[in-house]
Amino acid sequence: MKKLVIANQKGGVGKSTTAINLAAGLAHKGKKVLLIDMDPQGHASLGLGIGTEDQQTVADLLIEDKCSIKDVLQQTYIPKLDIIPSDISLAGAELKMPQMGREFRLRKKLSEVSGYDFLIIDSPPTFGTLAINSFVVAEEILLPIELSFFSLAGINNFMDSISYINENVGSMVKHNVEISGVLITFFDTRTKLARQIHSKIEELFGRKVFNTSIPQNIKLKESQAAGKSIYDYDSNCSGALAYQNLTQEFLKRCKHARN
Ligand SMILES: Nc1ncnc2c1ncn2[C@@H]1O[C@H](COP(=O)(O)OP(=O)(O)O)[C@@H](O)[C@H]1O
Ligand SMILES: [Mg+2]
Repeated sequence: MKKLVIANQKGGVGKSTTAINLAAGLAHKGKKVLLIDMDPQGHASLGLGIGTEDQQTVADLLIEDKCSIKDVLQQTYIPKLDIIPSDISLAGAELKMPQMGREFRLRKKLSEVSGYDFLIIDSPPTFGTLAINSFVVAEEILLPIELSFFSLAGINNFMDSISYINENVGSMVKHNVEISGVLITFFDTRTKLARQIHSKIEELFGRKVFNTSIPQNIKLKESQAAGKSIYDYDSNCSGALAYQNLTQEFLKRCKHARN
């Protein structure tokens, strides 16, 4: 089971969009996927049409000792794609979680999970307890970087924070997480500035940068409002083709890593 977190401390860079459409892309390819929504905004859940009314969520999983995976797991409309959803109640979870071992709550609960090929975590745009819980579960980070003037501001800080978490928290359970892939989002080839930032990102991350970039495509936004993956909303739009390519490239990398 490969464990991946989609992370960047900036908001609005395409984390949730990537979590939804990479998870759905892998499921469409026959892989069994568990998506975990660790953002109180619940965008990954809403984007797949998952409601949380009268349902327990990842907040209950983190707060309640007695709450287990089977209490919070939901099937999505996509065969082979399950989700542990979140909603705004997760915002208060940090306060309510027991003090002892609070960074490892998710890790502990997930130790009973098996049978999935991929576990994909959508993370919040902050470095609090929720993010740390995600980083001590995932082995790999997929870092979406939006192609804009300010996109690189904060990337060094992000990498420092990851090192800090590895050294000070992950080390307690011999866990290490690292950036394995960088995905350029909101790509627009037409501007010179975009091309310049693109080459800066390649300078910084080298071969970790996916060949696939995600273009700006309004259909991606619309698909989330409709509660569907981009493939089921409009399979021919540029966003669908890009996420399909990303899924393929991601799978190819996983295969190479194993060999
Ligand atoms: N490639 C894209 N083209 C156009 N809109 C996008 C694209 N990717 C994401 N969006 C939209 O931009 C907003 C922010 O994306 P989101 O994935 O929620 O970012 P994050 O999770 O990093 O905050 C959402 O409304 C989403 O629908
Ligand atoms: Mg998000």
